[in-house]
Amino acid sequence: MTNSKRDSLRPRVLDLFAGAGGFSLGFHWAGFQTSVALDFDSLAVESLIANYAHLGTLVLEKDLSKFTPDDLDYHLKVKNHPNGFDVIIGGPPCQGWSMVGRGKLRSLFEKHGAKPKEDPRNKLYQNFLNFVSHFQPKITVMENVAGMLSHAGINVADKVAEGLNEAGYNVTWSRINASSYGVPQFRDRLFFVGIRKDLNVRFEFPKTTKSDGTRLFPLNNVRDAISDLPIIRHGTKEWIRPYSWSPDISSYAKRMRRDANPETIFDHVCRKHNEQDLEAFKIMKQGGWYRDLPKRLKRYRDDIFEDKYRKLSWAKPSGCITAHLSRDCYSHIHPSQNRTISVREAARIQSFPDSFYFAGSMGSKFKLIGNAVAPMVAEVIARELKRQVLNRKQAQSTKDKLYSGEKTYET
Ligand SMILES: C[S@@+](CC[C@H](N)C(=O)[O-])C[C@H]1O[C@@H](n2cnc3c(N)ncnc32)[C@H](O)[C@@H]1O
Repeated sequence: MTNSKRDSLRPRVLDLFAGAGGFSLGFHWAGFQTSVALDFDSLAVESLIANYAHLGTLVLEKDLSKFTPDDLDYHLKVKNHPNGFDVIIGGPPCQGWSMVGRGKLRSLFEKHGAKPKEDPRNKLYQNFLNFVSHFQPKITVMENVAGMLSHAGINVADKVAEGLNEAGYNVTWSRINASSYGVPQFRDRLFFVGIRKDLNVRFEFPKTTKSDGTRLFPLNNVRDAISDLPIIRHGTKEWIRPYSWSPDISSYAKRMRRDANPETIFDHVCRKHNEQDLEAFKIMKQGGWYRDLPKRLKRYRDDIFEDKYRKLSWAKPSGCITAHLSRDCYSHIHPSQNRTISVREAARIQSFPDSFYFAGSMGSKFKLIGNAVAPMVAEVIARELKRQVLNRKQAQSTKDKLYSGEKTYET
């Protein structure tokens, strides 16, 4: 079977708020095809084009607070791109609900006595629901931060589930830690899965343990994730360099290297630090925190910034990779080299393979990586969706035939 024939049989995905395409990558690995990806950030769009355009993905730079499902219909028609989606996925922006920003909001409130205004980004999930309502895919998956569970006394997660239910979907949602699905990172996120009601399926999230309590996915740690990468100095700006040879590369790292150029690695660059920070990094133990530092090396108040600096441990998964790495990387100090992590190391910890491209400056790359859905988590969910929904004979309805023309789907 030719590649293009195989691609036309893949279930078709619309990725909204697509970022660099972490969510899409997991679906691609599981045998889906991202037909259309949208984001309003030009560097996200540049990354999407670099990683997906050759796979037939139509990438659009659009502001989803204004761009409507009817506008998308129009674009697809003008561009002669197929309409209809089997799946709509998306991670509407989460800054407004993020637990990380809460302390700051509270202190502003205490200082100025004013209630912080509702962040308009918090409403963008409703635009996501409009697309689901309009295109009526078989499946929809939305990702967001756990802060959604309680925002200003409201459980926004319930609202999302309610909205999906009204749009005609049976909804299951779960709080997932990426480390349970083999990602070398503690990353807690909410995933909502909606299955169109006529398919008569209620999705069950993939199990993480067997009945005897043993893990179904390996607990990968920082060593598995990054120890095979070349040793580098803080502040290096060598964007491309030779891969280092390593006697025992973990199976995780082998997977990360799989489709990459075997000779060279790119984006293995990191920040430059001053003498005081370098001394602090040196004396910190693996797993150590800012609060453990001697007073002379503290530049910030340690009652507020007790976890400002954090050194990774070789033997544990990393702490959560967030978009904050675009400002500084103190939360991710390398376990044995005197520096913070490189862009490529952050990507590895998020389960992006070494062949994946992120556009822009070092800071922009960190932001795209920190914002992404860990592709390996998306892959596990996508495979399970195929098993429970798409490959089930009874799950086929007349509507389905509109988009796929096939009864079962191939990986
Ligand atoms: C949490 S990130 C999504 C990451 C993505 N799912 C991934 O796996 O790589 C949210 C994305 O929404 C985009 N975004 C925010 N507001 C938007 C808007 N009004 N219209 C379109 N995209 C928007 C941001 O540029 C960002 O890339």
